[in-house]
Amino acid sequence: MESIDQALESLRGAFLPRFRAAATEQALRDENAKILGKKGELTAILKDLGKAPPESRKAIGEKANVVKKEVEAGFETCLRELRQKEREAELSAPPFDLTLPGRAPSGLGHKHPIAIVREEVVAVFRQLGFAVFDGPEIEHEVNNFTLLGFPPDHPATDMQDSFWTTSGHLLRTHTSNIQIRAMKSLKPPMAFIAPGTVYRRDDDATHSPMFHQIEAFLVDRHVTLAHLKGVLAEFAERLYGPGTPVRLRPSYFPFVEPGAEVDIGCVFCKQSDGTRKGCSLCKHTGWIEVLGCGMIHPVVFENCGIDPEQWSGFALGMGLERLAMLRYGIPNIKLLFENDPRFLAQF
Ligand code: DAH
Repeated sequence: MESIDQALESLRGAFLPRFRAAATEQALRDENAKILGKKGELTAILKDLGKAPPESRKAIGEKANVVKKEVEAGFETCLRELRQKEREAELSAPPFDLTLPGRAPSGLGHKHPIAIVREEVVAVFRQLGFAVFDGPEIEHEVNNFTLLGFPPDHPATDMQDSFWTTSGHLLRTHTSNIQIRAMKSLKPPMAFIAPGTVYRRDDDATHSPMFHQIEAFLVDRHVTLAHLKGVLAEFAERLYGPGTPVRLRPSYFPFVEPGAEVDIGCVFCKQSDGTRKGCSLCKHTGWIEVLGCGMIHPVVFENCGIDPEQWSGFALGMGLERLAMLRYGIPNIKLLFENDPRFLAQF
């Protein structure tokens, strides 16, 4: 049997040419493992150390460690050389061909259903002559409630219903604050649309603590309910197709008088002859509620320094999540906020 010393010597002479012969990093690593790995040659030699005659064991052990260090250093050097060679080859190769056609896009981003609906609604109102008016999401209660005619004990002003921050500020609970901001800062006539994010302490299958609204309002001389109805009819036709019927149901909002809720003919059970047979989505009524509206209350005008004897106007507000859910038949509002690509890719 070859002595341990001889085995060490022959390994010492062989490892470098073996490393140098490796053409790739993987081949080099494989070769290294054959020597230093668990079942490697040097590892095997070290295991046999016990068999060496006791008087030479120490010297052989030291030599084995020296060889091990040499192998490790040799591996590192060869690895560096190999990488250097690869880099040089890369740099001296012909440059990238910039004339090659691009690869097919791997899933371009696209619009969120709420953004789609918002852009549609804004487009309809812009065509009718309304301009966009923006405002802050952290609002003072004066603009969010007081000047809109909310009594101080209105449930919406409660800690349970709204997110209050400090000293009379809260996350706005609706976009109606924009009516106040516009009317306080500008002189009529005016026609604005205000899309934005709003917040309420609400969380279930059809409510989210953060959601989106669009407010629209118009102030001019001699504005009547007929103008409001005309705008609503136009809105329903443009968004849900020609002939979509609209109806107003009396309702109460502190900042309008009279106030109404608006239904459109159900878009889900509409028959080819234009009638509706009723379905679960419209609770078998043939009608679906889409927004709140009314004639701007004289007190709101006064609160903003506008003379209600000279000016009148209408306002309306709608929830975008609701519009999107109706449009696409989305059963749970959470789907709109989870940003699951499998859901979003469908729009
Ligand atoms: N601000 C109301 C809400 O969040 C919606 C609304 C109702 C807006 C009637 C209006 C309106 O402008 O006239 O529930």
